[in-house]
Amino acid sequence: MKAAVVTSFTEPPHYQDFALPAQLGEHEIIVEVLAAGLHPRVRAQADGTHYTSTDQLPLVPGIDGVGRTAEGALVYFVLPDTSLGSMAQQTVIDTRRSIELAQDADPIQIAAAMNPAMSSWIALRRRISFTPGQNVLVLGATGSAGRLAVQVAKTLGAGHVTAVGRGVDALRLLEADVTVALESDKNAVTNQLGDAAKDVDVVIDYLWGEPTHDAMSAIIPRRTDDAQSLAWIQVGSVAGAEAAIPAAALRATRLQIVGSGQGSVSTRGIVAELSELAKAVSGNAFMIEARRVRLEDIERTWTEPATSQERIVVVPQPLPEQGRTRPALA
Ligand SMILES: NC(=O)c1ccc[n+]([C@@H]2O[C@H](COP(=O)([O-])OP(=O)(O)OC[C@H]3O[C@@H](n4cnc5c(N)ncnc54)[C@H](OP(=O)(O)O)[C@@H]3O)[C@@H](O)[C@H]2O)c1
Repeated sequence: MKAAVVTSFTEPPHYQDFALPAQLGEHEIIVEVLAAGLHPRVRAQADGTHYTSTDQLPLVPGIDGVGRTAEGALVYFVLPDTSLGSMAQQTVIDTRRSIELAQDADPIQIAAAMNPAMSSWIALRRRISFTPGQNVLVLGATGSAGRLAVQVAKTLGAGHVTAVGRGVDALRLLEADVTVALESDKNAVTNQLGDAAKDVDVVIDYLWGEPTHDAMSAIIPRRTDDAQSLAWIQVGSVAGAEAAIPAAALRATRLQIVGSGQGSVSTRGIVAELSELAKAVSGNAFMIEARRVRLEDIERTWTEPATSQERIVVVPQPLPEQGRTRPALA
């Protein structure tokens, strides 16, 4: 069968033949892949920089996707660390890491949205005791995951949502109650963040690095009530793998820093959230722009400048025109 195949961590995947395994494990089945999202995590898998990466090559990238079983069921699956990912005409899934979708679910929409939406959905539902009415700040709200985090927080009942990120135009499109643009003058950002976050309960952080240090330094001294808990959830690190945490931040307020991702949430915990999240995605609860590309165009697609305004979805089989997303907000 054909697949996107990585043969070197310094080259894009090539469209070529890749063999299915000769034997399957007890819970494994082969599915025909209908759609697989090209998430930042997939790029990190393909260039060997993700924290779960081994040096094993060749590999087929892709960590999740939508497939069709031999019996005709439509499934969303999350793959284990494997050299046969989802960017292939067929892949091997573990039935314990998949859910059945409604037959009319849109594979493109599901493949585009599940991974970025999961980042905040699982963080709020599995890593802290989030209760409706609590106020949420999304740090790094302009990427696919950040934009979805604003919507997920609202869907899960957040009282007040603050979106912080770079890109004034991108921030303007969000359904946040308050937005703070990081490109402004540093004093202005500090004041705006302090005001916006004085009674925030949860920060969902996609940036880390210097912006996290700066945000913590701006927010903590301006809290209205030092006794109010502040859960800071580390989810992404697009601005840096390390952040300097001010010691006083941990002493001056009830700050709790936790991470959310593969490992800090068990596979069972992740899978337990998938059906409800897929229903929300299929019910158009969230807006995400998806762009479908053919598997055979993978090499060209990979080397195009990436944009965070749309999620690329690789389509190994011809699909009817769907790919609907919630209409863009005014
Ligand atoms: N832990 C989990 O469960 C989980 C799940 C999904 C994703 N993630 C992680 O979440 C992060 C975001 O993923 P994504 O899918 O949203 O990626 P994405 O769509 O590529 O978006 C990345 C966003 O980060 C912005 N950005 C990059 N560097 C920045 C900086 N220095 N300061 C401020 N903003 C910056 C980009 O802005 P520009 O457009 O201006 O460049 C873009 O808006 C990644 O690290 C990903 O691995 C984690």
